[in-house]
Amino acid sequence: MQIYIEKDYCQLSKRAARIIADEINQKPDIVLGLATGSTPMGTYKELVRLHKEEGLDFSQVITFNLDEYYDIAPSNKQSYHYYMQHHLFDHINIRPENIHIPDGKAQDVEKFCIMYDEQIKDHGGIDFQLLGIGENGHIGFNEPDRELKVLTHLSKLSKSTIKANSRFFNSPEDVPDKAITMGLGSIMRSKKIMLLASGRSKASIIAKILTEGRTTTSIPASSLLLHNRVTVILDEEAASLYNKPASTRGENIRDLQIRKNSGYEKGGKNVVTYKECQSGHTF
Ligand code: GLP
Repeated sequence: MQIYIEKDYCQLSKRAARIIADEINQKPDIVLGLATGSTPMGTYKELVRLHKEEGLDFSQVITFNLDEYYDIAPSNKQSYHYYMQHHLFDHINIRPENIHIPDGKAQDVEKFCIMYDEQIKDHGGIDFQLLGIGENGHIGFNEPDRELKVLTHLSKLSKSTIKANSRFFNSPEDVPDKAITMGLGSIMRSKKIMLLASGRSKASIIAKILTEGRTTTSIPASSLLLHNRVTVILDEEAASLYNKPASTRGENIRDLQIRKNSGYEKGGKNVVTYKECQSGHTF
């Protein structure tokens, strides 16, 4: 596992976008797994910039999104279809037929989920999966539970996720209580995975995963410790409870490599909020 600690959200977003751009340049027909939520917005903004200013080419890129609320239409502004169009797809040269997002209006959900996994398989699996993380450790919409599902499925959202995601809706009652999500197996089969975490609200779950060095179904993201090609990018706030001297850090994860951004300064003015980072945002 390779861990980058960036000084703020902007640096995190730039690092993440640069890594994705390098992957696309190395394999122009890459199969990308994409995530939603507030965390990857800056990464998408930077990818759009790289496309517009540096010619990053998405013409052969294939994408599969992790999840979509159920039951919600693609035109709904809270849908992840809308999110992806608005933050990324409308601004790059991706082919519409190369975009895959779970159907939040699927009539036969079970059939749809089987088809989604088949489509991923038919494209040779996901080369590079981008992930955010919920405050309770969920990835995609795989919520903490006694058991975790392997394949794409309909998930019931936990109260804490509904509460956390209600900031995008008028009220918690408006948040759909279900979602179609890739399962843990679909995620873990990706050849490479990159997890992003920004802000103090993620500090505790990040510290728990990285210092305890064990996997548990009560923290779905802890499964990533079993994958051998994972990059984690944190900003200083998300790393704040994990930010220990190297000798005491990650003692249970032997292949951990930690790199601090050269601009990183302990105690410096490193807090850049999402809004500040978005100034000049023109979408
Ligand atoms: C949602 C998404 C997850 C995302 C999580 C965290 O629940 N399904 O994929 O990682 O939110 O979102 P945020 O980045 O807004 O904290």
